[in-house]
Amino acid sequence: MPNDMTADALVIFTPSGKRGRFAIGTPVLTAARQLGVDLDSVCGGRGICSKCQITPGYGEFAKHGVTVEDGALSEWNEVEARYKRIRGLVDGRRLGCQAKVQGDVVIDVPPESQVHKQVIRKSATMRDIVMDPATRLLYVEVAEPDMHEPTGDFERLGRALKEQWNVEGVAAELSLMRRLQPALRKGDWKVTVAIHKGNHDARYRILDIWPGYHEGRLLGLAIDLGSTTIAAHLCDLQDGSVLASAGVMNPQIRFGEDLMSRVSYAMMNPGGDVEMTSAVRTAINGLIQSICTEAKVDPKSIYELVFVCNPVMHHLLLGIDPVELGQAPFALATSSSLSLDARDLNLAAVNHAARVYVLPCIAGHVGADCAAVALSEEPNKSKDMVLIVDVGTNAELLLGNETRVLACSSPTGPAFEGAQISSGQRAAPGAIERVEIDPATKEPRFKVIGSDLWSTDAGFSAATASSGITGICGSGIIEAVAEMRMAGLVDQQGLIGSPDQTGTARAVPEGRTHSYLLHDATDQGGPRIMVTQGDIRAIQLAKAALYAGARLLMDEMGIDKVDRVTLAGAFGAHISPKHAMVLGMIPDAPLDRVTSAGNAAGTGARIALCNVAARNQIEETVHHIHKVETAIEPRFQEHFVNATAIPHATDLFPHLVGVANLPENNFNANSGTDGTRRRR
Ligand code: FES
Repeated sequence: MPNDMTADALVIFTPSGKRGRFAIGTPVLTAARQLGVDLDSVCGGRGICSKCQITPGYGEFAKHGVTVEDGALSEWNEVEARYKRIRGLVDGRRLGCQAKVQGDVVIDVPPESQVHKQVIRKSATMRDIVMDPATRLLYVEVAEPDMHEPTGDFERLGRALKEQWNVEGVAAELSLMRRLQPALRKGDWKVTVAIHKGNHDARYRILDIWPGYHEGRLLGLAIDLGSTTIAAHLCDLQDGSVLASAGVMNPQIRFGEDLMSRVSYAMMNPGGDVEMTSAVRTAINGLIQSICTEAKVDPKSIYELVFVCNPVMHHLLLGIDPVELGQAPFALATSSSLSLDARDLNLAAVNHAARVYVLPCIAGHVGADCAAVALSEEPNKSKDMVLIVDVGTNAELLLGNETRVLACSSPTGPAFEGAQISSGQRAAPGAIERVEIDPATKEPRFKVIGSDLWSTDAGFSAATASSGITGICGSGIIEAVAEMRMAGLVDQQGLIGSPDQTGTARAVPEGRTHSYLLHDATDQGGPRIMVTQGDIRAIQLAKAALYAGARLLMDEMGIDKVDRVTLAGAFGAHISPKHAMVLGMIPDAPLDRVTSAGNAAGTGARIALCNVAARNQIEETVHHIHKVETAIEPRFQEHFVNATAIPHATDLFPHLVGVANLPENNFNANSGTDGTRRRR
């Protein structure tokens, strides 16, 4: 084993491939730092945190041109032995701060030892995220006070952070100062601090302090605050893992179902905005409690929250009266991103020092939720022309490629979320989510959330016994209406035919219109699930708003077709591309190029939570997104009217032709008594 301290050895790190020569006796952690290799450490090389684990490789590495001898690293030392004894260490692993270079060596840094580790997606709808959080834990050893050199404990802590971590210029608020002295003394002048630096902060802030080495988790919440639902992902800020995801209904619904009715409520009722602000904040605190109970973690471990929301939700969350957003020119109080204290938003459930980042808005009707979708889906980096549709009560649309990106929002209403639908319900076990109707017999079969079986399969009753069949969720109603159209039960205008016109007794007369009976469990005391004429109308209005928004963006871009379509939104992942196109929710495109991005706004929020540089990126990107205003655009109305037909009154859908048969029936023409067309 070489012991000449003037000799050096070649150290090669994988997977980065970084290499350099180091003096014999150099700790692996030191070599990694000098080469800029991403090797984690919270304790600064004191053998406490075990974040610096590495795996040395031995033998011949032809690729690197080195042979690693058995003694290439120093012997297993007492610190490592103790760590392994008490906490356990995977065989073959060493602590990078303890193992010293003795000869040429190849060292692998496992993913869990990388600070900027990539959170690898678990499903097609999840993006890879590189970890670079704004909040992290640091362990420091602080000099004891000296009567002859009087300095404050905080100043000595600041000096230690600079010397040991290169963290310069720290600030802390009074409540932390009060806990500083006991923590330092209890920890025998060793403490762990949670430090935070947002993308606009000039200084680091100490958010929390613990005596000695603290192993606790730093948690963050990514919140997609929608008009109808509030969805949250609870994330570990060190490794990016999602510990739990949960959602609640937005309690502001009682003040108005859509955005404009909430703005009107604020306009008509003095103090109405304050009432809505308080309602949503209470709901968020409740959601935080329940998501933490589910994940079995303390909500006080939440140090950061990222919010994405549309402009009205944005203003109401912040306690800003949204009245200006209800009238042209739809001026936002601020469109910039915001960094705040959570307690300014009365989010008392989380840590007292927790910080909040709100993504920037794009314009008066296009909010931070759209910015989050842009961050997640990156239309500005797309080579081909992509239309991204975030389906919700207020749909957000982005159209563009690497040259130009346009955005608009469209008031679809809550029908796609199961509201305003007679048997509509939230996507939950028991909700019908898939529907097929045989065009010959007009008989349906369906699947409910919680079971993979079709309703006609053996075992379906047993599989759904506990959940029951309770209603239809958003994706279910889209499929039901599209299937009814393909089966000849609904005409191009959206009219449900009579039993005579359709040839099935499932077309049930209801007053002057008809409904389609999807499922009848009344003989067992269960529900009768129908698709009514009113349901079809609600879906027509919602999908027409969506399509008209897309057409408006295409007009502005000067194009007639798009290369691909991405469906986003909480239930975007569940929408079948074929059914969406039969319905005419989206413009024609090759079906295999209509894909789903899941909850892209939520993903964008998670990216901004885990990667502080991404915040700069989206702030820059929104400047280049051109906003198209649907509310004042006369062509929107024209597009809307044409788009109420199923799939469309005038636009062609050539890609549908091969995959779906759309009968050309007109139930109004044959029915003098119907009168539905007159009412429209
Ligand atoms: Fe903390 Fe090695 S750096 S144990």
